[in-house]
Amino acid sequence: ANRPRALSGIQPTSGSFHLGNYLGAIRQYVALQETHDSFYMVVDLHAITVPQDPKDLRANTRLSAAQLLAAGLDPERCTLFVQSHVPEHAQLGWVMNCLTGFGEASRMTQFKDKSAKQGANNATVGLFTYPILQVADILLYQADAVPVGEDQRQHIELTRDLAERFNQRYGQTFTIPAPHIVKEVAKIYDLQDPMAKMSKSAGTPKGLINLLDEPKVTEKKIKSAVTDTEAEIRFDTEKKPGVSNLLTIYSTLTGETIAALEEKYEGKGYGALKTDLAGIVVDFVTPFRQRTHEYLDDPETLDSILAKGAEKARAVAAETLAQAYDRLGL
Ligand code: ADP
Ligand code: NA
Repeated sequence: ANRPRALSGIQPTSGSFHLGNYLGAIRQYVALQETHDSFYMVVDLHAITVPQDPKDLRANTRLSAAQLLAAGLDPERCTLFVQSHVPEHAQLGWVMNCLTGFGEASRMTQFKDKSAKQGANNATVGLFTYPILQVADILLYQADAVPVGEDQRQHIELTRDLAERFNQRYGQTFTIPAPHIVKEVAKIYDLQDPMAKMSKSAGTPKGLINLLDEPKVTEKKIKSAVTDTEAEIRFDTEKKPGVSNLLTIYSTLTGETIAALEEKYEGKGYGALKTDLAGIVVDFVTPFRQRTHEYLDDPETLDSILAKGAEKARAVAAETLAQAYDRLGL
């Protein structure tokens, strides 16, 4: 069948994924398995743009794959693999580096954010060019749709620009992809700082819901979420960012609309909303954690899923790379 392609990647740096990763990205990976020929990868080559302990990186790559399976990726219906198992990523990455202007790369705001944390002079050239490796990640699979959070929109724009540039210079080679961003969950906010995105690296530890946290920890974080001095449960991202973020999470996990929730909690306090939401999140993460551990406890199955995934991915990637090399005169 000629289904459209979907492709996305997630970094193994964090160990545990957080609720922003899940609602903004992973949930869409799962949904797109039904409609798209889907490729999802743990992007370990992106992780080494900042220093990594090799033992931790290896463990976190497996942990990430286990979490993606626990979230609902089905190796019978999608291709799940580890980026470094498919050497074509680095090879097409180099080609894309040679197609990108220095000024163009310098405009990527994610680099500015990520390098600021380390001091711009300590950042690696790899961190600077990681969006360009991401371009190769996407183009190798001729992806139509790239499920990501809002923070990745600029990188998908770069991908489109480079694909068009290559096609124009060397002949039609790459599909022009589009971001698949679900507006309502494109940005989940930090529970303690609801103007900033929930993030492992940038946010506050207490404002971050790790999917592998103990239920007690999760409950406590939700119950101490920052709200406002009003007592009205209303969705208003400007005046009530904290409450709005809680409503977004609630609505997405239960399928109840925001309007229905506003009605349900009319006249009730923030405490009631938080208590209920804590229960909902805990009910979601408890079986998720259990499934993750089941995959980790069965390393043979996990290895075999990833080996088959890499083989399927490589077949597609090798064909695209061969075409690109041929067009380039390589
Ligand atoms: P991080 O941004 O935490 O370093 P990644 O860069 O690996 O994590 O992102 C994995 C995916 O999760 C990306 O598609 C990204 O857009 C998405 N994502 C990350 N944080 C959030 C958030 N707070 N809200 C929505 N989506 C997010
Ligand atoms: Na990100």
